Amino acid sequence: MLIKEIVALPPEAQEAAVLGWVRTKRELKNLIFVEMNDGSTLEGLQCTFDRGSETFSSAVEAVLSEVSTGCAAAITGRLVPSPGSGQAVEIAASGIALLGKAPGETYPLQKKRHSLEFLRENAHLRARTNTFSAVARVRSRLAFGVHEFFQSRGFQYVHTPIITASDAEGAGAMFQVTTLDLEALSRSGKGPAYSQDFFGKPSYLTVSGQLEAETYATALSRVYTFGPTFRAENSNTSRHLAEFWMIEPEAAFADLADNRALAEDFLKFLFDLALRECPEDLAFFDARIEKGLLASLRSVLDSRFVHLTYTDAMKELEKNESAFEFKPFWGCDLQSEHEKFLTEKVAKGPVIVTDYPKEIKAFYMKLNEDEKTVRAMDVLVPRLGEIIGGSQREENLSRLEKRILELGMNLEDYWWYLDLRRYGTVPHAGFGLGFERLIQYVTGMTNIRDVIPYPRTAGQADF
Ligand code: 4AD
Ligand code: MG
Repeated sequence: MLIKEIVALPPEAQEAAVLGWVRTKRELKNLIFVEMNDGSTLEGLQCTFDRGSETFSSAVEAVLSEVSTGCAAAITGRLVPSPGSGQAVEIAASGIALLGKAPGETYPLQKKRHSLEFLRENAHLRARTNTFSAVARVRSRLAFGVHEFFQSRGFQYVHTPIITASDAEGAGAMFQVTTLDLEALSRSGKGPAYSQDFFGKPSYLTVSGQLEAETYATALSRVYTFGPTFRAENSNTSRHLAEFWMIEPEAAFADLADNRALAEDFLKFLFDLALRECPEDLAFFDARIEKGLLASLRSVLDSRFVHLTYTDAMKELEKNESAFEFKPFWGCDLQSEHEKFLTEKVAKGPVIVTDYPKEIKAFYMKLNEDEKTVRAMDVLVPRLGEIIGGSQREENLSRLEKRILELGMNLEDYWWYLDLRRYGTVPHAGFGLGFERLIQYVTGMTNIRDVIPYPRTAGQADF
């Protein structure tokens, strides 16, 4: 049984066996306490050996003498109400087997506080700490929650490709995938012959599954993707990864207002789920990582997200111009200090900003009547800034073609995407939620490298 299951049993002298890793071993007079953890819950299970009990033998004593922090062990005994505070039950232990040693001289995670930087260098072991096992449990539960939310609302899960020849965001921040011999190429001094490359043309890791998701939304009506995405942006920040997971719903017969409502419902569903299903882990984050986390998540559930157009948001920022290092002006991209101001000072909670200048948004967004702005939407949250980016899509063929050409992109590359506007076009909309940013928001972890098991950033692909 997992510790999570054992601690839920009634403590009436049940026999129990615990399998896990030793967090600590302490001795007090005749008692030896071994704290076991198996990652199934935050709380470990205390196993108490009593030198005075009948079952205590020299064999048990010998094994215990070898037990140290980090060992894997199996402990048997009876489940009893715990006399100590902090736990309801413990194990009155009688037997122990040492399954895997962890020599104290070399095991990196001795029982003491470790910095997050140190743990990042030991990412293969960090899931054995409270913080990282809690992150892993929240991540797992919310990943499942994503499917629960969309499946219950008639959205079908679509697996969009990871390798692609199209730049979904038109931003060029893509990792190339090739089987060409780069060293031979550089020796020859000739350019690459892509006809000889694996796919017969330049190909990349996807930056977004959106364009392919649109092809399914205009057939299945409501779809979503949930997969890894890749961006070769050289931005070394606490909220950018080169490899991250994104959830992208796409709905036909939907406009920007529908999209906003879906995004708000989706985020609230996930916050509520985390509060209900991961209460222990969230209480830990509230106490140890981000004070006030629980209260802020709850207050978001109880209020409507503030909606501002980009133009109105800009007016708010311009009124407070002196508060910023980067002077805000109509047409500029929102800087993180601007996002922070809008969420923390203006809205005191999440804000949805819509109708951005077309120049700072992707080619596929629907042009408004003013011909200056597009039906874009970003959801901004306190502490993090942008958590969701989305839009209503341009469903009009000639306007979409015009925009692609204006941006100097090739129409031919998007022939299949344009076909959606040629045949049975409908208004449709969607968005992308960065899964790691969601986990950051829900756990309060400040660095995105700490909410994914093995972060990939510029210059960093270990493990
Ligand atoms: O705003 P983005 O670039 O939008 C898209 O990719 C659209 N195709 C989505 C759509 O409409 N279907 O990215 C969406 C979200 C961002 O709001 C952010 O949460 C996350 O993805 N994101 C990143 N997360 C971690 N590291 C990065 N480098 C990220 N870039 C974007
Ligand atoms: Mg964006």
